[in-house]
Amino acid sequence: MATGTDSFQYDVCIVGTGRVGLPLGLSLCEAGLSVIGLDVDPELRETVNSGRMPFAEPGYDELVSRKLLTVTDDSSVIASSQAIVITVGTPLHTHIETDLDQIRRVLDGIGPHLREGHLVCLRSTVAPGTTDYVRRWLDRHTELVVGQSLSLAFCPERIAEGKAYEELRTLPQIVGSEDAVSGERAATLFSHLAPEVLHTDFVSAELVKLFNNIARYVHFAVANQFALVADTFDANIYEIRRLANHEYPRSHIAMPGLTAGTCLRKDFGMINEWSPYPDMLLAAWKMNEFIPTFLVQHLKKRTQLHDRRVAVLGYTFKMDTDDTRDSLAPKLVRYIDRELPTEIRISDHNLKDPIPVGEGIRNWSADDACDGVDCVFVATNHTGYDRTLRNLAERAPDTWVVDIWNVGGADRIFYQAGALMNEGQYS
Ligand SMILES: NC(=O)c1ccc[n+]([C@@H]2O[C@H](COP(=O)([O-])OP(=O)(O)OC[C@H]3O[C@@H](n4cnc5c(N)ncnc54)[C@H](O)[C@@H]3O)[C@@H](O)[C@H]2O)c1
Repeated sequence: MATGTDSFQYDVCIVGTGRVGLPLGLSLCEAGLSVIGLDVDPELRETVNSGRMPFAEPGYDELVSRKLLTVTDDSSVIASSQAIVITVGTPLHTHIETDLDQIRRVLDGIGPHLREGHLVCLRSTVAPGTTDYVRRWLDRHTELVVGQSLSLAFCPERIAEGKAYEELRTLPQIVGSEDAVSGERAATLFSHLAPEVLHTDFVSAELVKLFNNIARYVHFAVANQFALVADTFDANIYEIRRLANHEYPRSHIAMPGLTAGTCLRKDFGMINEWSPYPDMLLAAWKMNEFIPTFLVQHLKKRTQLHDRRVAVLGYTFKMDTDDTRDSLAPKLVRYIDRELPTEIRISDHNLKDPIPVGEGIRNWSADDACDGVDCVFVATNHTGYDRTLRNLAERAPDTWVVDIWNVGGADRIFYQAGALMNEGQYS
């Protein structure tokens, strides 16, 4: 472990410059701080260091091209950085159990370089108790004492992908710490971006982040449950939703859809591993996971998929992103495939070829994917699919459409494309 009080070369080292760490690092550079990145992914390092974003995140292309932020694999940069912000992945194991592997590897890597005066901020989404685990790890593996020679805080990231640039500067920052100096130092760092800093302890800050995400996941699960109930009564969920939400101050019903994604899908597990009881969170998981099956099975009541050609529009986990992590679209494709169609065409204009679904599967343009197929599933509500469905309605009105996002505006989940013309949607 390095010691000494010489000045630091960098204000901040971001450990894990992925979808959370890189936008944060670039925004801190823009705010005038000197920032270095540390990441184990050679392709990501090469891309960022040559001035390009490794993924789509609006607002950052110009900033990254200035090459203010370099990403290295040399963990000795820790010693020359005043603050260390950890933003690596925190997945779940296959069981209901959080996977601490990436956090542990980071600690093993940075531990020998930590020295007096460092501020360590954990920013990955973590299970309750993880920041205290980090505190105890530091206690065992270094000679530093949190609250005396070293500062430690949990500072959750609450941005939505695609909105990082705006939300880093508009969302309040929660800072969880167990001593005043750590809290103040973390607040000073994040005050370069956040308009307001709110202080609490480690566990409360961890739970704030988890509760924010889980509340959203359950909110979407309720919307999906309502869609199934409406379907049972042959009622129009989209009209019911509009009526229920209109000028009504006490509840807002979300759109039904394919709800997943790397954060929402896993975060309930971080609480569930601490509770053996039946609960609403597992029920929400089941509800959201059921939607792909529902779409395939209920289309089969109207038309067959066996020996038919099928198009799937959208492959990412949410609209207008290039992130496929934990998307339900691949699951939907697998359920369609079980029906033995003659062909499945996948289209997602946010993804570069090839779509990561299997060898030889190409990424079609949306119009070409729909050309001559019998059924079209809208898996993601990307901008522009309303136009695709309008073209389909004109060219092939008999084609079956499965449109849980209602992007076509037919106000039905299952319909034949011509319905869009018949009902005057586009006349
Ligand atoms: N993506 C989001 O919108 C979002 C929003 C809020 C919170 N989060 C949370 O932030 C965390 C990071 O998520 P993400 O989407 O940025 O993940 P990501 O996979 O995009 O980024 C993680 C990065 O860490 C790097 N890494 C892994 N191990 C490392 C190590 N030992 N040393 C250095 N680098 C290492 C990886 O190569 C990768 O580039 C997760 O806990 C996630 O739940 C994500």
